[in-house]
Amino acid sequence: DHNKFQAIISHCKEYGFVFPSSEIYDGLSAVYDYGQYGAELKKNIRDYWWKSMTQMHENIVGIDAAIFMHPTTWKASGHVDGFSDPMIDNKDSKKRYRVDHLIEAHAETLPEAESDALLQQMNALLAADDLAGLKKLIEDNKIKCTVSGTVNWTDVRQFNLMFSTQLGSVTDEASEIYLRPETAQGIFVNFLNVQKTGRMKIPFGIAQIGKAFRNEIVARQFIFRMREFEQMEMQFFIRPGSQEEWYAYWKQERMKWHLSLGTDAAKYRFKDHEKLAFYADAAVDIEYDFPIGFKEVEGIHSRTDHDLGRHQEFSKKKMQYFDPEINQNYTPYVIETSIGLDRMFLLTVCNAYEEQDLSTPEKQDSRVVLKFPAKLAPIKLAIFPLTKRDGLPEIARELMDQCKSSFYCYYEEKDTIGKRYRRQDAIGTPFCVTIDHQTKEDNTVTIRYRDNMEQERIPLSQVREKVLAAIL
Ligand code: GAP
Repeated sequence: DHNKFQAIISHCKEYGFVFPSSEIYDGLSAVYDYGQYGAELKKNIRDYWWKSMTQMHENIVGIDAAIFMHPTTWKASGHVDGFSDPMIDNKDSKKRYRVDHLIEAHAETLPEAESDALLQQMNALLAADDLAGLKKLIEDNKIKCTVSGTVNWTDVRQFNLMFSTQLGSVTDEASEIYLRPETAQGIFVNFLNVQKTGRMKIPFGIAQIGKAFRNEIVARQFIFRMREFEQMEMQFFIRPGSQEEWYAYWKQERMKWHLSLGTDAAKYRFKDHEKLAFYADAAVDIEYDFPIGFKEVEGIHSRTDHDLGRHQEFSKKKMQYFDPEINQNYTPYVIETSIGLDRMFLLTVCNAYEEQDLSTPEKQDSRVVLKFPAKLAPIKLAIFPLTKRDGLPEIARELMDQCKSSFYCYYEEKDTIGKRYRRQDAIGTPFCVTIDHQTKEDNTVTIRYRDNMEQERIPLSQVREKVLAAIL
């Protein structure tokens, strides 16, 4: 449902969640900024992941490695040679396309059987790195990227997705470094540091959240595919031979995490990789049913000893672990869970977004509501004095002071209560409290619930506890 996706993008902008980067200069392609509510929502998702991975697992610790890494890291990891996508250029428009995106978009316009056959052919050619075959497939199927006319394609070429820059003096050739395309390598190169200083015993994990950069060739997909994005990754180090068991474990564990946010299970599915990345012996995606179809949010990869083994080879440092239980030295195997924070953000907004028709025979009415899980909502409680007089703002301010160190509150005294409710619905605030004249008499307030719009009278003294109970 493309219209719904467009409506969500507009809503994100209108209500301060996501803005195009440097918009006054017409933006920068596939780069976005998070606004006042977006930054809060993103932080809440980040914190929820961090806590459930580290604090809730005694054998997982978190680190924060630098974005810049020694350039040999990326030779060892395989990214210098292998982290590329086949691209093709339209000679006339000079536009560049990722071959798989181009073919997939075309496949969507075909009947199911033809579409499946085309995608199968594409996957076989991609797996064989057959660039000439891919070009032929595009031409044979008359795949276009413009409305009319034949397309004058270039050959298909491999295009490395890493951004490079210069460290220190620009003239020195050896100073070329990369912006990391994944956070995982910061974990692998710190494996020995963490294992030794943390006295970690296998199986154990290292988690990290941070920016990653890829020079993606993008179709318009909002924050689904960005050039600068944030990853939340965890590398779980295990005994060789136990990878199947741990792969199955993390597959289930990560799905549980997603469902713990209350999302309908039917919105999720597992999708096994047809083409394995250069580092994996098994890989699966967790996909979510976005308005633009089922798409990947997270990957679980069985990376074997590929990364530690390669770092041992390139650094000449022993990347091994002595396992006292079996009295053996070995290079640990790794199961990785890797989720894009921005993609999880998009999922959270898409899943929460609802346009509701509230019309009655007497009156036309509607609202847009973001039904975020309370623990992820940017604002938890909105506090409204009914009027700006009669001491009501003072009582409201007192409640603000009582609550604001525990969770994010929002104070508003302008406009009718109805309008104020709608604005909070649109940013997903689960609770609104109104202070009125009765409050002065009996110390009760009206609390209004976002999802069912019901209201009830409760003691002022219970507001803080009630919100706290909902967001824990
Ligand atoms: N360390 C493994 C790794 O990076 P990946 O499948 O390339 O695996 C993992 O990326 C996750 O990172 C994806 O599932 C997606 O959520 C997110 N991601 C990858 N590229 C992205 C991009 N260009 N924009 C936003 N998120 C992205």
